[in-house]
Amino acid sequence: MCGIIGYAGSEQAAPILLEGLGKLEYRGYDSAGVAVCSRRERRLRVHKAKGWLHVLSDMLDGGAAVEGCVGVGHTRWATHGAPSDINSHPHLSRSGKIAVVHNGIIENYGELKAFLTDRGVPFASETDTEVVAQLVEYFYEDGRVDLLEAVSRCLRRIEGAYALGILCADRPEELIAARKDSPLILGYGDGCSFLASDVTALLRHTRRVAYMDDGDVAVLTKEGIRCYDYLMQPVVRETVYVDWAVDAAEKGGYEHFMFKEIMEQPEALRRAVFPRLKDGRVRLEDLSLSGSYLRGLRKLYIVACGSSYHVGMVGKYNLERMLRLPVEVALASEFRYMDPIVDENTLVVVISQSGETLDTMAALREARRLGAKILSIVNVMGSSIARESDQVLYTWAGPEIAVATTKAYSTQLAVLDLLGLHLAEALGTMEEAERDAMAAELLALPEKLERVLAERDAIQYCASEYFNRGSVFYIGRNVDYALALEGSLKLKEISYIHSEAYASGELKHGAISLIEEGSLVVALATCGRLFDKAMSNIAEVRSRGGRVLALATEDRREEMAKTADNVVAIPNTHPLLLPSLGVAPLQLFAYYVALMRGCDIDKPRNLAKSVTVE
Ligand code: AGP
Repeated sequence: MCGIIGYAGSEQAAPILLEGLGKLEYRGYDSAGVAVCSRRERRLRVHKAKGWLHVLSDMLDGGAAVEGCVGVGHTRWATHGAPSDINSHPHLSRSGKIAVVHNGIIENYGELKAFLTDRGVPFASETDTEVVAQLVEYFYEDGRVDLLEAVSRCLRRIEGAYALGILCADRPEELIAARKDSPLILGYGDGCSFLASDVTALLRHTRRVAYMDDGDVAVLTKEGIRCYDYLMQPVVRETVYVDWAVDAAEKGGYEHFMFKEIMEQPEALRRAVFPRLKDGRVRLEDLSLSGSYLRGLRKLYIVACGSSYHVGMVGKYNLERMLRLPVEVALASEFRYMDPIVDENTLVVVISQSGETLDTMAALREARRLGAKILSIVNVMGSSIARESDQVLYTWAGPEIAVATTKAYSTQLAVLDLLGLHLAEALGTMEEAERDAMAAELLALPEKLERVLAERDAIQYCASEYFNRGSVFYIGRNVDYALALEGSLKLKEISYIHSEAYASGELKHGAISLIEEGSLVVALATCGRLFDKAMSNIAEVRSRGGRVLALATEDRREEMAKTADNVVAIPNTHPLLLPSLGVAPLQLFAYYVALMRGCDIDKPRNLAKSVTVE
């Protein structure tokens, strides 16, 4: 969703802001803008445009056309008011003295707008954000308070979520930042300071960052950053060193981030798994759950959204088998409104790549309120979900830029399996030999996945056969069903083909009426013990004229080829790890289909990478 970049230093700000916005494009946006403070003129220059960033960049000659060393930039993902030049950020106060960029939603903006309108303040846009600019000026113009106090008064009046960057023409050397429930990161450079929605925008400039806490306000200048807590008391936020490689957030010769990230999966798995498996034993040194707590556990609850939820669905099948404990999986957006049965004997496992998904965050807080311990599986270090959890297992997948998640899904799954092995050992619910066999296969996953990826031409061929279908069904049983959900989501989000996932056995209870001559069904049949059942379901589809693209294990390839139209095979592995291999052909299929349909693969329409609104 919206992206923010800010700079206060001695260099020209606009080129730095535009370059930073380029790094935030992946979050999803529909317009972009910058505001720069000119010390010479003591005024703010705002430039903004609907559409992709290059429209703005061309308008400003890459930033060379704008003078000033302090500024903020923004990519907007529309919530209040359609995408347009006027609704783009930054927003100016009526005198043009205050400029604001914002990520989040000001929930009481209607009431505040009425308050200001009654006092003669005119509004230019339809956005919720504009009230912030107008309200700061309203308090500031009063003349009795300084800028920081005016900002603080404004923050006390607004309700909702915000990450804000604020400039004032009277303070041309300062940039003010504030955050509540929306991510904002401070960057410490050499003779300059930065502000960003996420670290990928800062990697080229600094690796020394600090995560703002909820309620924090910061003042950035070229000399450094002063930070205040929600009571406006000075605080020092811990700085951390980010060790992500600069090129990890760049395409590195690949046409798309999504393809690069698909191909990076074996390496990402090595990073996530190898350090945590020593001498065949799981060692989760980042975890501390006491024996007595674990013995008292009655239930696991997995809470997440989108693909992270699909990881949870695999987790339900796997963890219940490994732990013999009930595992419930809930969509985070539903969890908080369903009166969930959660108490201190429930371990709530929160899964989120970004660590910033608002629905997931809200579910986490609800689970904590109900007394549960929170263990999160997160990719982005220092993210809000990581910081609010009791325990964190990082996925170490590196930055994921494509909106459609791939390597984050794979590493989340591997980490969840590691967690299962760890808990199974502590609870004594799996034989040692069984644990050893699964651990050995976890170690073998990266190499096997490389073999799957090497077969990509065959998948590209299948895509060329089916890319013009109007609707696609994904079916499977058990973990294959959980995997079907992910395969279907991948296809629909980047290729815009309507697609649905069904538990194979459910097809005949309704959806089979949609199968007609030429309908494509992607049948997942990797579960050995359910192979015959899968074959029956495939036969049902074929006898109604449907075309079947099947996914099976290598040992069943030939048998499957007798029934399905196309077969993609994955290496055999431990039954619980099959989705870790099976997901790659589904990602590649979606990728190639989208490519052949000419879709914008890394930035699919209407989607955002980090979903920070409810
Ligand atoms: C998957 O390709 C999507 N981008 C989306 O479903 C994503 O998994 C979901 O929004 C959850 O995000 P999170 O893992 O960052 O919380």
